[in-house]
Amino acid sequence: MNMVAEPHHAPVEDSAEFTVRMVPHGATFTAPASLSLLEAALLEGVALPSSCRNGTCRTCVSRLHTGTIRYRIEWPGLSPDEKEEGLILPCVACATSDVVIEPVGLG
Ligand code: FES
Repeated sequence: MNMVAEPHHAPVEDSAEFTVRMVPHGATFTAPASLSLLEAALLEGVALPSSCRNGTCRTCVSRLHTGTIRYRIEWPGLSPDEKEEGLILPCVACATSDVVIEPVGLG
């Protein structure tokens, strides 16, 4: 019998890198798993609206069209309904796959 325990939620390797595509204008940038989508965008010179950068002001709010993210903080400033709709806060969200996002600016 194999007794090796597998972790339930294997963390994404910090060295992993994903591709982010922005709609509608189609800019793309690389998002390392260790950086938020906003940090990765700024590093590559891609403009993304932002203000607080800590998940409270909602300036950066975007729609996640495809892909998956994880949050750095426990309670990003989005309601359960908004999360259900696919809204994310890129300043505190890190990619866990290639993603397509659209800034929607509810600020
Ligand atoms: S910049 Fe304030 S919530 Fe993202």
